[in-house]
Amino acid sequence: MNEKTRPRAVAFESGPLEVAGPARIVSATGEELGRATAEKPVYLCRCGASENKPFCDGAHQACDYAAAGDFPEEKLKEPTDDSQSEITVRVLQNGPLVLEGAFDVSCGGDDLRSTSRITVCRCGASSRPPVCDGSHKAAGFCAD
Ligand code: FES
Repeated sequence: MNEKTRPRAVAFESGPLEVAGPARIVSATGEELGRATAEKPVYLCRCGASENKPFCDGAHQACDYAAAGDFPEEKLKEPTDDSQSEITVRVLQNGPLVLEGAFDVSCGGDDLRSTSRITVCRCGASSRPPVCDGSHKAAGFCAD
């Protein structure tokens, strides 16, 4: 796959998740919520405070959201099939974002690594952001 067209997920430090496509954003039931292209990325809320979930509305700037944006290498799974160009971002009800396909993620600075799946916290409570650690249950996170 051409590196230029590979989808990408970059978690901005203390900010949203940028997804550059091709990508489909779907609800847990499969309803399409949006699409991202390489030229028109989407920004998904990680702090849990957006009034327009799953999308970022800038609310992270008003709350004291502080979270890392580097995905830990041990959570990445090297893609076995690089032929599928479009990735899926599934928005789990009251839970995280699940990204699947073949894509690159931010691993510190300009360092990008390939993965086939990653689960991203969107409640703001994970102790290991940007990865979900299940804290949304204890936090009582409630969002479609
Ligand atoms: S990350 Fe921007 S509103 Fe939550």
